[in-house]
Amino acid sequence: LEIKYRTIDRENLEELKFVAAEDSKIPLLYDSEYTWNELSTSARLEFYKLQIAVSDFFEVAISNDKIVGFHIVKKVPYPPDLFAGIIITLWVSPLVRGNGVGTTLKLRAEKWAKYLSLSYLQTGVHTNNPQMLSINEKNGFSITQYTLRKKL
Ligand SMILES: CC(C)(COP(=O)(O)OP(=O)(O)OC[C@H]1O[C@@H](n2cnc3c(N)ncnc32)[C@H](O)[C@@H]1OP(=O)(O)O)[C@@H](O)C(=O)NCCC(=O)NCCS
Repeated sequence: LEIKYRTIDRENLEELKFVAAEDSKIPLLYDSEYTWNELSTSARLEFYKLQIAVSDFFEVAISNDKIVGFHIVKKVPYPPDLFAGIIITLWVSPLVRGNGVGTTLKLRAEKWAKYLSLSYLQTGVHTNNPQMLSINEKNGFSITQYTLRKKL
């Protein structure tokens, strides 16, 4: 399996749209409160445009000229003078899961974060997403917070 890794091409709308569509569907896998419609993709595109800077980490994994994975990490201030990396999303195509693509994307983001001297990486994982919990723990992440939700 030959996989190439590179920064996303923000000028390529097809590429961005593909990522936004897949990204907006991820919570369907584990969050019963979440619903998806066509607007979800455009909302995600808007989010990338407004919230993800060119200097943030936004990479894709490519196999046979197709995107088979992506990973976004946003640099945020951690006052007074530190910065942290907040993991926004990680996705690997079901066709290539279990081949280390997710791990490689995480390691590339970690290298980027270390290069920028970020103090830590942080992510949130749904309790119904054991794969994601597992890949994080294998990469040295440990639980520091609980997220609580009250259904209304
Ligand atoms: C989580 C995900 C990114 C893993 O990608 P991947 O390329 O398959 O991961 P890797 O091959 O690098 O595997 C790394 C680790 O992930 C975990 N993992 C991967 N597939 C798994 C599975 N089917 N069951 C349990 N754990 C799994 C394991 O801990 C694995 O380590 P191991 O190979 O030593 O067992 C992928 O399953 C995915 O895209 N899931 C849907 C999207 C998602 O939930 N994103 C998170 C929300 S932001």
